[in-house]
Amino acid sequence: MKQSMIINGKAHEITVDGDMPLLWFLRDNLEFTGTKFGCGSGLCGACTVHVDGQAIRSCITPVSTLVDKKITTIEGLSEKGDHPLQKAWLNNNVPQCGYCQAGQIMNAASLLAVNASPTDAEIDTAMQGNICRCGTYQRIKKAIVEAADTLSKEV
Ligand code: FES
Ligand code: FES
Repeated sequence: MKQSMIINGKAHEITVDGDMPLLWFLRDNLEFTGTKFGCGSGLCGACTVHVDGQAIRSCITPVSTLVDKKITTIEGLSEKGDHPLQKAWLNNNVPQCGYCQAGQIMNAASLLAVNASPTDAEIDTAMQGNICRCGTYQRIKKAIVEAADTLSKEV
């Protein structure tokens, strides 16, 4: 029987060895290149995507564990790239080189999905595993606070 996963709302047949990490399948097979390869060892967060709404590290997640799961990448976070986090990222000129930022946004989105008004400490805890070699941490935090504020006004 053919196995598949839902990526950004669309079913994709799993055509690769089940041991292949999701990151490789996304980037090399499906050309969802918004998700980045950083350390390849689950340590930096550059490869963060959502599986059934939860942030995971796609570089260490074999596709065999994802049959029938719903994957969301940065390309699928919002239809027009206008998720409150993406808007806040633009307002605050967050990225420097940009390399880590898709992972940062996906991790922040999973935080706001379960905690729409995180405290500073909760943001620090949730984001501490996402490394930015350019040191944009202060702007990331400011943007998350701004997005949380927007979300709280939407409800
Ligand atoms: S590339 Fe996956 S955690 Fe670094
Ligand atoms: S913006 Fe360069 S690594 Fe984060």
